Amino acid sequence: MKNAFSLLLVISAFASANVVAGGSPEIGFQLLLNKAYLPADLDQDVFDALWTVWPEPLKSKAEQASTAQRREMAMERYGLLPHPNDPSRSMQYVVGSSGNWTMSCLACHQGQVAGTVVPGVPNTNYALETFTEEVRLVKIAQGKSFGHMDIGSLLLPLGTTSGTTNAVIFGVALMHHRDAALNIISRSPRFDLTHHDMDAPPWWHYRKRKTLYADGFAPQGSRMLMQFLLVRENGPEKFVEWESDFEHVEAWLESLQPPKWSGEIDDSLAGKGELIFMEHCGCCHGEYGESDEYPESVVPIDEIGTDRVRFDALTNKERSALNDSWFGHFGRDAVSIGSRQRPLGYVAPPLDGVWASAPYFHNGSVPTLWHVLHRESRPSVWRRTPAGYDTQKVGLEIEERSVSWFAEAVSDGMPSAQRRQYFDTSKLGKSAKGHSYPDALTHLEKTAVLEYLKTL
Ligand code: HEC
Ligand code: HEC
Repeated sequence: MKNAFSLLLVISAFASANVVAGGSPEIGFQLLLNKAYLPADLDQDVFDALWTVWPEPLKSKAEQASTAQRREMAMERYGLLPHPNDPSRSMQYVVGSSGNWTMSCLACHQGQVAGTVVPGVPNTNYALETFTEEVRLVKIAQGKSFGHMDIGSLLLPLGTTSGTTNAVIFGVALMHHRDAALNIISRSPRFDLTHHDMDAPPWWHYRKRKTLYADGFAPQGSRMLMQFLLVRENGPEKFVEWESDFEHVEAWLESLQPPKWSGEIDDSLAGKGELIFMEHCGCCHGEYGESDEYPESVVPIDEIGTDRVRFDALTNKERSALNDSWFGHFGRDAVSIGSRQRPLGYVAPPLDGVWASAPYFHNGSVPTLWHVLHRESRPSVWRRTPAGYDTQKVGLEIEERSVSWFAEAVSDGMPSAQRRQYFDTSKLGKSAKGHSYPDALTHLEKTAVLEYLKTL
């Protein structure tokens, strides 16, 4: 872990030397780590008692352990990482002086690769639903009142597979209770939403992209970064008050650089891969190296063929409501810079540091780059090892299962926390199909492209 922290410090030192228009990356990162923008989710006593609701044999193991060890076990169970200044707490929750824990952007947006914290890599271990469920049980046992997450999760699923969340639909559900100026309007909750899980993209894409999200429907800007704060407790005045904070947060995002592959690379094979990539992939994904051109192309949904639930679940009315609101109006004259409010499909993402951002596609359905390239061999049901990295296939180290094995295990009563560790591509929103472009390549050409992708 020590390496991981020093890496973070090096990156923040680098970042502070590059103040991006309006904000300071270093201040942005400190705000993400230390400032709570939401009501608290739990307190330290609840966190420290979580082990009491764990299944055996984990519970007995925790009972024998010290408080520090139990905290470590809890962080591992929920996919949380130790805070750089205080390993007894998590970097993804801001812990106030009274011991209250409040979720931050880093809950979904700061994870690790092969056991090392890489700034801006999404948290692909985050077990939000399991964490919330178990926090609720402990609160009941301790006679404590429920927070907004405890109640929210009774109305909508938070994430059916660990590492992915229903984040887009949280946004839609929250925006339903706001007018364009973000005043709170009373409406009955929506029950017509299509819940689906998404894999958060790496934040180092921010410097290359002009739009946000899988379908690129929203313009980038510090205000757009604030949607996650739309809980009832935050009135419109809070958004104005915190706008300058998010200029710093945006500067942090802009400052992030993709991580470099640290293993060996066969240069001659990668060189061949580059030529093949330029011929078959570059038109959508851009050029890397000296020219570094990124077209941000949007591929029509029927053509790309990856799971279309995300595309359909967010209606054009909802896209417009967001873009036409306070979030879409910024800059000196508060003019909407507008964007593609009616996207045609998904954006071909930048591939810088792609070796580190597994799993792949917007729904996180494909565990390695090898599987992106070998469509016919993509696993139907898979589970990652907690921190394993597959250097051959380039991506998550996984265990593969069949759909029937998994269905049987679930009907035999597999506990929900364990069930959520499996990615079942037969479920709504979780298809691993599509993106057939690599089919045009021979096996050897794919091997060369895989080698090249490590260099980006
Ligand atoms: C519950 C998990 C979660 C939390 C918390 C969260 N995000 Fe995200 N974020 C996501 C997911 C999932 C996406 C992908 C959404 C999509 O593409 O439709 C996303 C997308 C983004 C993107 C777009 C990146 C791109 O390349 O398109 C940015 C920027 C971002 N989030 C910033 C933030 C900030 C800043 C916060 C805190 C204020 C935050 N997020 C909190 C899950 C989360
Ligand atoms: C016609 C445009 C197009 C071409 C050509 C294309 N891609 Fe893609 N690619 C996309 C789109 C769009 C996505 C996003 C799909 C999604 O998330 O559902 C994508 C996603 C990916 C991803 C996953 C990225 C991530 O972070 O999840 C990889 C890796 C990738 N492509 C590699 C390649 C390679 C290698 C080739 C050439 C053999 C190629 N692509 C050709 C459009 C294209």
